[in-house]
Amino acid sequence: MSPRTKNVACQPNRSSSSRNSGVDASSGPSSKVRATLSDGPIPASRGMDLRLKAPQRVIEGVAFRNPPRRIPPVTSTAALGRRETELRERTEGNVPILNLGPTNPIPVYGALLEEDDFAAVDAALRRGWLGLGADVAAFESTVAAAVGATDRYPVAVNTGGAALHVAMMVAGCGPGDEVIVPTLCHLSNVQALLATGAVPVFCDVDETMCIDPDRIAELIGPRTRAIVALDYGCNTCDHDAISALAAQHDLRVIHDAAHSFGSSSRGRGIGTFTDICMFSFDPVKCLTAIDAGVLMLRSAEEARFVKEIRILGSDQPDTVMYKNARTWDYDAVRVGYRYHLSNIHAALGTSQVAKLGRIRSNRQRSCESYSERLKANDLVRLPAAGFDDVCPFLYAVRVPAEKRDALRTYLSDAGIDTGLHWRPAHHHTFFKEFRCGPLPVSEAAARELVSLPLHSAAMSDATIDRICDRITSFLR
Ligand SMILES: Cc1ncc(COP(=O)(O)O)c(C=O)c1O
Repeated sequence: MSPRTKNVACQPNRSSSSRNSGVDASSGPSSKVRATLSDGPIPASRGMDLRLKAPQRVIEGVAFRNPPRRIPPVTSTAALGRRETELRERTEGNVPILNLGPTNPIPVYGALLEEDDFAAVDAALRRGWLGLGADVAAFESTVAAAVGATDRYPVAVNTGGAALHVAMMVAGCGPGDEVIVPTLCHLSNVQALLATGAVPVFCDVDETMCIDPDRIAELIGPRTRAIVALDYGCNTCDHDAISALAAQHDLRVIHDAAHSFGSSSRGRGIGTFTDICMFSFDPVKCLTAIDAGVLMLRSAEEARFVKEIRILGSDQPDTVMYKNARTWDYDAVRVGYRYHLSNIHAALGTSQVAKLGRIRSNRQRSCESYSERLKANDLVRLPAAGFDDVCPFLYAVRVPAEKRDALRTYLSDAGIDTGLHWRPAHHHTFFKEFRCGPLPVSEAAARELVSLPLHSAAMSDATIDRICDRITSFLR
């Protein structure tokens, strides 16, 4: 066993699954709500008009009803906070965030929402079964078909974070166990494993920003239960090396594919070949269901286990629920959570998956344009791999650490929003005492990384030029 730079007592009692389990049960609407919906539109006097009116404008894929209110470009050295306030005001005024004129703000994320997405949500609302039902079944099979998974069992839950928590439970994580996780990760990776009573061991990444298999090998010990393999940005992990390590030490692999839905690795679709794989369809992902997570499982037993956990540990059969119906004679058979997905989210998710090909090529093209324009700049390190095999979630570059924050402010002053993925987990107050391996790559990268705007709608050459010109004028 190789050296451990930090060996601190675990804090297993900070969070435990049993303490989180007192959530109220509900799936599907009450009969009263159903009756109202099937009777036709709710009158405006009741304060809510469920008929989604046809949007009048579509701006680079995002439709809004009201014409945009002109907000002058920020020319002072405004702080990032001011930009965020301005973006919030735009949203509250029902004004497009994604209004990419020559001087308008460019958000870091952008969904592709079109008429068919609005129509799908409208139709699901009008069907009136709002909880877990037929749309969820359709979403699960659509996701599996989109990634080419013929021998996997897809199960949808209400967020990617919930999917990770349940994945840790499938892996059998609990008090006394360690889970090896890249420190360059999403908060939900750590919270999910802590919720089972396990503790993290933070591992370094390699130059792809994905977990480094050589570093994993050094951290495996008698308490190790699982490894989190997180595909970062536009890169996928070395899944073969990670699976081999897991097989050698009898560990489970939780594949966090929140960033890599629609990608492939060595010719295999993500979601088709790893141990326990999860996707996220949150508001900023390449495809959004507003919020949803999908687990890709290897066996019917695991799928049943997850289906019980997602509905408060009860044995309500999905054969009934997937017909927009419920039973009243269910039994609580294990610890569970209110993690089930609603039909409304699922309907949007299904509509989004239908445009995966277009979203993937839009995002690939934007990444290629960035790389083409920035490759001559020695101060900008481009993402490690090409984009042909992936549906890229982030275009994250590395710039000199001492210039990174000033660059972000300079871009923000020109209306260009950027992201930070991420502050390493071991820097967070609540996580800093857990065991770590050596983390030199993560430490350096965390000071250098900056995520540039990347949208699911096509980004125009003018928009990419505007961003790259501004970067180049700062970093010369
Ligand atoms: C890598 C990664 N894993 C998990 C999650 C959690 O997914 P969700 O937001 O759907 O809960 C995210 C969300 O951004 C993520 O980026």
